[in-house]
Amino acid sequence: MTIETAAPLEDELGDVLEKAMRCAEHSEESLGERAGVATERIRDAIDYRYDFSFDEIARLAGVLGLNEVGMAALASGHYPLPEIGGLPFCLHALHTPHGIGVANAYILADCGTSRGILFDTGADPCALLQAWPSSIRHLDAIFITHPETEHVGGLAEVQRRFGPVPVFGPVGAVIPGALAMAEGSRLKLGVLEVETLATPGHAEAHNCYLVRATGLWSGRAVLISGDILFAGSVGGAFFCSEKLKLHVKRLLTFPEDTVVAPGHGPLTTIKNERTFNPFVV
Ligand SMILES: [Fe+2]
Repeated sequence: MTIETAAPLEDELGDVLEKAMRCAEHSEESLGERAGVATERIRDAIDYRYDFSFDEIARLAGVLGLNEVGMAALASGHYPLPEIGGLPFCLHALHTPHGIGVANAYILADCGTSRGILFDTGADPCALLQAWPSSIRHLDAIFITHPETEHVGGLAEVQRRFGPVPVFGPVGAVIPGALAMAEGSRLKLGVLEVETLATPGHAEAHNCYLVRATGLWSGRAVLISGDILFAGSVGGAFFCSEKLKLHVKRLLTFPEDTVVAPGHGPLTTIKNERTFNPFVV
């Protein structure tokens, strides 16, 4: 099993505060007033300069309806991440630079074979191919979570390199040549089965994919969570915050050992995010 978890967290404390304030329709002033924290200190935090006491974190979390343990972990710079292991197939995490952060693509493969399935294609084809595992020489399918540049930027080049490969994406997404995968659709590719979860919220056309090994090899699953659930945060609710919340809640009902492979940031597990994610209370 190949696992690589070196991507930095997608969101720092300031990003989480900003997303939560937008969701709760709080300004820096109204949050400061309710939490008894100076507005300037909230502005500084959003600008990545913070030195909140635990009491202040607890008050901010209380007003915003966030998990104070996770908030304190982010504030300390030591958000806990789990050991990832025990998957019945190989998981290759491919990180491509995107702005000041990283966008992830993933290859899932039956270990010991040269065939794999690609999930998203990263921001940049050169970076994607640089990170490409030398063992994977054939693709059986490409699944796209949502058609934003940092998740489909490498698609044309991957198709050029690997020849005609079926591409699957969310219903309503504009992805040339892609077949739409609706809620509940399942595809079996070799020993892997991919189940589609339609998850609008970050974007109107957005899918997550739950991947399991079939038959004798069944066991721990991988959730390709796109821009819905991250280690230590959630995606921006650019389409609908209510739907995003609903889908985050749904993903967290999956078995606790499910490995979460997000569109940005490091790998995590459902158990870890149930315990520490600031947006989970
Ligand atoms: Fe993204």
